[in-house]
Amino acid sequence: MENAISVNGLEKTYDDNTVLRGVSFDVEAGSIFALLGSNGAGKTTTINILTTLIAADGGRATINGFDVATQPDKVRQQISLTGQFAAVDDILTALENLELIADLRHVPNSAKTAHDLLERFGLVDAADRRVATFSGGMRRRLDIAMSLIGTPSIIFFDEPSTGLDPEVRNGMWDAIRTLARTGTTIFLTTQYLEEADQLADKIAILHGGTIAATGTARELKKLVPSGVIELTFHDEAQRTAATQALEPCYQVAASDGMKLSVDATNSVEQLAQLFTQLRDARIEPVDFSQRSPTLDDVFLKITGRE
Ligand SMILES: Nc1ncnc2c1ncn2[C@@H]1O[C@H](COP(=O)(O)OP(=O)(O)O)[C@@H](O)[C@H]1O
Ligand SMILES: [Mg+2]
Repeated sequence: MENAISVNGLEKTYDDNTVLRGVSFDVEAGSIFALLGSNGAGKTTTINILTTLIAADGGRATINGFDVATQPDKVRQQISLTGQFAAVDDILTALENLELIADLRHVPNSAKTAHDLLERFGLVDAADRRVATFSGGMRRRLDIAMSLIGTPSIIFFDEPSTGLDPEVRNGMWDAIRTLARTGTTIFLTTQYLEEADQLADKIAILHGGTIAATGTARELKKLVPSGVIELTFHDEAQRTAATQALEPCYQVAASDGMKLSVDATNSVEQLAQLFTQLRDARIEPVDFSQRSPTLDDVFLKITGRE
């Protein structure tokens, strides 16, 4: 597969705040790529460099083979950007917003393009309403519709589901998946592990100015070899006793709801040993469950955050 996006050693410093310290990754054409990072990690900065809005201080990035620094016009023809804050114009109607972008992008039949998109995103009934009256979900749908005008081969979404309620977010995810099926390359940023897990073919974790880990959700989960056993106790005394009994052998952490999370490999042997230890200490959990590591666990391990 050829790379739609190729990034090598990107650096960026604002005043004395170095945000990117050599960021490198590749995005295969037609895939969904998620750049995962906490607030302030440099996700928007990376997107802004790749979409030619700001210049990097070092390194190189190409979009469909065009250099973002030396061929910005070529790059802009390949891409569209749906920013972190919806770029729709409140004063215009949905139809007017779409037609405006279609005209700006020199799409031959802007009215037809606009109508097709209204239909595709379930906005026909709202076509002639001012966007100021739209719900958050409708604005997002219109925003995505606008980003599709001119059929860009690569679409950038900066935190597409931030601030959306779950139902609207699911609709957004469906729209992104549908786009990817048509061969469009999707680059999205997110603070949500679940979002990256749900959507992305490949995930890169941006932390401390570099890519701390990269791979599929499955590969990243392997970085955390242990499973997790969650024990629930009746009261604090039982939980404290369990902590004391298990701490010498396991990594344990207390969590909400009188729970204790125990890092374990989830092998039968280890489970047997763990429950034997509890029994010997006369500790009776009221409930227990076993789970595989989530991307959250990966992120915590890599970023070392609590
Ligand atoms: N134009 C700017 N001038 C100065 N500092 C900036 C600018 N844009 C972003 N920053 C800083 O760079 C860091 C990364 O910001 P950003 O790329 O927006 O992160 P993210 O999108 O991952 O939340 C933050 O500390 C932010 O305050
Ligand atoms: Mg951002």
